[in-house]
Amino acid sequence: MRLKMNHKAPYPPQLRMPLRELQAEAPSPSSQEKSDAVYFVLGGAIVLVILFILLFVLWKRFKLPAVPVTKADPSEEKQSVYGKYDESADVMNMIFASKQQSGSSEFLSGNLRTISYFAYQTLKKATKNFCPDNLLGSGGFGPVYQGKLVDGRMIAVKKLSLNKSQQGEKEFLVEVRTITSIQHKNLVRLLGCCADGPQRILVYEYMKNRSLDLFIHGNTGQFLNWSTRVQIILGVARGLQYLHEDSHTRIVHRDIKASNILLDGKFHPRIGDFGLARFFPEDQAYLSTQFAGTLGYTAPEYATRGELSEKADIYSFGVLVLEIICCRKNTDHTLPSEMQYLPEYAWKLYENARILDIVDPKLREDGLVEKDVMRAFHVALLCVQPHAHLRPPMSEIVALLTFKMEMVTTPMRPTFLNWTHRKDDEA
Ligand SMILES: *[C@@H]1O[C@H](CO)[C@@H](O)[C@H](O)[C@H]1NC(C)=O
Ligand SMILES: *[C@@H]1O[C@H](CO)[C@@H](O)[C@H](O)[C@H]1NC(C)=O
Ligand SMILES: *[C@@H]1O[C@H](CO)[C@@H](O)[C@H](O)[C@H]1NC(C)=O
Ligand SMILES: *[C@@H]1O[C@H](CO)[C@@H](O)[C@H](O)[C@H]1NC(C)=O
Repeated sequence: MRLKMNHKAPYPPQLRMPLRELQAEAPSPSSQEKSDAVYFVLGGAIVLVILFILLFVLWKRFKLPAVPVTKADPSEEKQSVYGKYDESADVMNMIFASKQQSGSSEFLSGNLRTISYFAYQTLKKATKNFCPDNLLGSGGFGPVYQGKLVDGRMIAVKKLSLNKSQQGEKEFLVEVRTITSIQHKNLVRLLGCCADGPQRILVYEYMKNRSLDLFIHGNTGQFLNWSTRVQIILGVARGLQYLHEDSHTRIVHRDIKASNILLDGKFHPRIGDFGLARFFPEDQAYLSTQFAGTLGYTAPEYATRGELSEKADIYSFGVLVLEIICCRKNTDHTLPSEMQYLPEYAWKLYENARILDIVDPKLREDGLVEKDVMRAFHVALLCVQPHAHLRPPMSEIVALLTFKMEMVTTPMRPTFLNWTHRKDDEA
């Protein structure tokens, strides 16, 4: 056997030579075995000691009260985190990164962006005690204030109109975690939250150009050209597509409207207020939408029967697109009666092939691509059709708007609820 193996040695002779020389120089077999054994025992012991130290350090770390969240201002938050809210420290620890970092609240933990836990005092200071002058808007879920942190960062602070009895702190933080996991470039970013006594507060990124309603309802005097409007329409469509079809939790927004479309310095849109219905009991969310005074955007089946699905959002999206093209509110009682409700008037013009009459006159002066405007208009009319099942899903809407899909269906006449007995849209 041995002879056979030597014979079959795979190395060519010139390679075997240096090996033999090495063996000649090496210590005798017995002493080599001895030192090998010593090294082996020593190495093993060292590895064991290192492992033991590592284990001990890890164990110590997890036994210590973990710093549960990132902090915008550590000195201010110490009390609320360790004092009153000890019992929820576990939950927060579960929810937020245990990494401590002052200043920037943004870093990645796996695929998930983690967020800050703000002390109530920090937010109170940032918004000058929730001063009405800092009010950015008040949606169905509560007022939003502009705020400025000590480090100069701008934030938008939303005080949820919730009572503590309606939702405990743990449930709140779990919902916050869910919302934080929903990320898309056309959805507003949640930076942090705060639960202090009965207060439930969400902290969002600040959007430089605030919201779309300021532009299309003509308060700023700034004109948005056609390419900017297309960018906004498409961005909102993609954000909604993500909520409806692509995010891991299917979300119906329920309150798509111009004031919920936030704009950054370059007029890229981000949808605000998504997922907030989670914080409210079912019946109340429906009520709060009515309180928001957004009836003009509400799909007929939702307004009359409370039937809620993605298709209700798609209806609202259609109304929003009409508003963007025409640069007016969906309901305007100062106009002649046949023009008061935008989808109704738009349909009338569509039937008479006079669509371009309704387009924002400034847009016509500025120059627009008729084909593009007609496409957007057509899509809007498909969205406001009376039967939910006729409205195309958001992915199809995006394909239509980007001309990746041919327009084959003609829209049906929308249902017009008699809105005149209701309060004005923005009342
Ligand atoms: C919260 O509770 C207060 C009184 O405890 C009540 O007046 C208020 O209406 C409640 N708010 C909501 C949103 O239920
Ligand atoms: C439209 O407006 C945006 C920003 O206001 C500007 O950057 C862009 O160049 C304009 N596009 C056209 C075609 O005028
Ligand atoms: C929109 O944002 C840009 C960039 O920050 C700013 O220059 C412009 O004044 C803003 N427009 C309005 C109407 O606020
Ligand atoms: C809507 O209702 C009001 C009164 O409730 C009535 O005067 C008006 O004619 C109605 N409009 C339509 C279009 O049915």
